[in-house]
Amino acid sequence: MELSKKTRYLHIIIAISMICLAGVGLYMSKTEAFALYPIHKSFGVIVFIFALYRVIVRIKEGWPAPVGVAAKFQLMIAKIVHWGLILMTVIYPLSGMMMSGAGGHGIYVFGIELLASNYDSVTGDAIALNPTIASLGHELHEGLVNVLILFVVVHIAGALKHHLIDKDETITRMFTFK
Ligand code: HEM
Ligand code: HEM
Repeated sequence: MELSKKTRYLHIIIAISMICLAGVGLYMSKTEAFALYPIHKSFGVIVFIFALYRVIVRIKEGWPAPVGVAAKFQLMIAKIVHWGLILMTVIYPLSGMMMSGAGGHGIYVFGIELLASNYDSVTGDAIALNPTIASLGHELHEGLVNVLILFVVVHIAGALKHHLIDKDETITRMFTFK
């Protein structure tokens, strides 16, 4: 069965963005490379729009039917990982916006203000608009990194298994752009 154009394009756009944003996010939080923050946040907010659209597409079209036959446990792992990954594409940008927006840093997309920052005029420190939402966002954004990496690794390993061992169409039908 062929996959819809929306499924294939949304997958490639969001997959590349998520991998790059996770890499940049980890780098900037370890090195305090503050110059990268606005870029990470701007792309992150844009990914959120694509991710929500993809959720709508999945609700309308359902999940891709598996290629060929597979053992029950393999289908179950694929299902858990697909659900986990699509959830991550929503939770990550959402938690980022909770942390920055409610934390008083504001939400900007390449300079366009979506939510104003709330900095102390004397000290310049951010004053949280809602500390509970901000810290929940921070905990999710930081705490789910290993889960995100695990899902992505299992997902890629599964895709490679289809391509190299089963030698089926799973990867080619997702990555064909005509
Ligand atoms: C090199 C990286 C990747 C490869 C090779 C890859 C490969 C694939 C393939 C072949 C499918 C189709 C599975 C099927 O037909 O049943 C698929 C589906 C899916 N992939 Fe990936 N993927 C990659 C990265 C990612 C990333 C980073 C994410 C999200 C963070 C992701 C999320 C999904 C989701 C949610 C599906 C289910 C169908 C959909 O909603 O598009 N993938 N992937
Ligand atoms: C869309 C997908 C996104 C992904 C995959 C992602 C991923 C990450 C990761 C993995 C980190 C490092 C976490 C750590 O180890 O502390 C990070 C840091 C960060 N992200 Fe995101 N992010 C995304 C979107 C956003 C958005 C939309 C915002 C805000 C509007 C945001 C704001 C931040 C901030 C402020 C940090 C630094 C946190 C710190 O220094 O403690 N992110 N991101």
